[in-house]
Amino acid sequence: MTLLCALLSLSAAATTLIRPSKQAHYFVFPIQENAPTIRVRVVYENREVDHFNIMLARTGVDYTVPYDISRYDVRNLLFIVDSDSKMLTDNTTDEFDMSNTEMYRPAYHHTPSYGWMNDPNGMYYDPATKLWHLYYQCNPYGSKWENMTWGHSTSADLIHWEHQPMAIRPDGLGTIFSGSAVIDHDNTAGFGRDAVIAMYTSAGEAQTQSIAYSTDGGITFTPYAGNPVLRADIPDFRDPKIFRNEQTGEWNVALAAGQEVRYYASRNLKDWRYLSSFGKGYGSHGGVWECPDMIELPVRGTDKTKWVLLLNINPGGPFGGSATQYFVGDWDGQTFRCDHRGARWMDYGKDHYATVSFAGAPDNRHVVIAWMSNWLYANDVPTMQYRSANSLPREIDLYEDKNGELRIGVRPAKEVMKLGKRFTLKPKKGKTATIEISNNSGEVATLTYDKHHQTLTFDRTESGQTAFSKHFPGKVKMPIFPRKGDNMDQVTIDVFVDNCSVEIFDADGRFALTNLIFPNEPMCNYHVE
Ligand code: FRU
Repeated sequence: MTLLCALLSLSAAATTLIRPSKQAHYFVFPIQENAPTIRVRVVYENREVDHFNIMLARTGVDYTVPYDISRYDVRNLLFIVDSDSKMLTDNTTDEFDMSNTEMYRPAYHHTPSYGWMNDPNGMYYDPATKLWHLYYQCNPYGSKWENMTWGHSTSADLIHWEHQPMAIRPDGLGTIFSGSAVIDHDNTAGFGRDAVIAMYTSAGEAQTQSIAYSTDGGITFTPYAGNPVLRADIPDFRDPKIFRNEQTGEWNVALAAGQEVRYYASRNLKDWRYLSSFGKGYGSHGGVWECPDMIELPVRGTDKTKWVLLLNINPGGPFGGSATQYFVGDWDGQTFRCDHRGARWMDYGKDHYATVSFAGAPDNRHVVIAWMSNWLYANDVPTMQYRSANSLPREIDLYEDKNGELRIGVRPAKEVMKLGKRFTLKPKKGKTATIEISNNSGEVATLTYDKHHQTLTFDRTESGQTAFSKHFPGKVKMPIFPRKGDNMDQVTIDVFVDNCSVEIFDADGRFALTNLIFPNEPMCNYHVE
């Protein structure tokens, strides 16, 4: 049996073979959202070299996706497509227009140029080039979650992002799930001084951890030949976050393992030894634990630091679906000891998930970015050319609330501060104070400060398009945790409205509130009462 016959016998009953008829940069596939997802196998010189899944159009085309064929001699290239759709035609082109077609594409938040995006991954700052690197979970072949690949963007100012080529693509071990990256200044892994080492989850039959290295400043990555470097016998084992133990000079990694975090240590990023687990009896367990991060944060107004475990959970967030909880405690290089049992939430908005920090941020800064969506409806939000944006970058620290608890304080990164507008909400006696953010069609998003209960409520029920998911419209209510002596007669907030989001930050750096909106025209009126 030839390889082609073997591949065909693996394929579904309805199979189409298609050969690009001319040498070109791209072969273009027509996509119809919600059409069945089918597999495309790429066969070159009689060998399967790639495969991916697409919602191949059957009755109408919502958009098209380009597949790069420039590296192949098309005479030896064949697509085996598990479908009999008549809409698949021989369509090659040298140009594919990626210019924006979406009214909801943010003006100053990071988005992929094309296709689906979820978690930010592998974020690090490179002191040599002064660039911030942001990788992200993406689907290059459609605007719903599939074909997980690491996309890549860079920025000099955390506002303008330049798109880079896809950084890490699926391989024989699986698709590429979330993870982290560090610059290996001391060549501990043996891939060269200052090599960028990414560690990610290979999502194949099992979830295992792999590393890949880059010697060209994070643009192209080579998977390590000895992958995977870490396995476990549980189904949910993912999202490795590397951090450095300055005392021992070792690397540590925190990984989500079911509803726990597991810690490991290594000298070379390849050989890992198990240290400890954290999680039983702590925090919220309404869903799977994902995307941990370990950060040593300063306590505001003191010279102390404490360790914080950021931990994203889905579902099980306090407002439905996805949210970021955190734990404050101590890390001795072996074990994380948490100071409290209950869950603490980092952001009380509905669209704040998969929060992780940049490795190596300059000047002791602690800069994080969250994925600005929620798994309850992320695949259904009303955009198609791309789907999902990242939050504004934020700086975090710890502050002590009036009950003596340490809480994460959040402020916009200093670079983006100028994009916001400042307002003070000062309720009259016995009343609440409100800011209405609206457009000229009467669509409105409302933030209400209730001084008596010390809460903020964000309501997006009338904010425009909301019907795409029953989970989207509604209100979220956030408790403010004041410090001793805070004047709660008023709150001063910085409001950042972009084409599909409202982010609210406390001017005193206590909280943030992150929510999507989809108004039918831009929101540019502000009314405080
Ligand atoms: C979180 C997550 C991660 C996983 C990735 C897959 O949103 O589920 O746990 O690595 O997305 O895309």
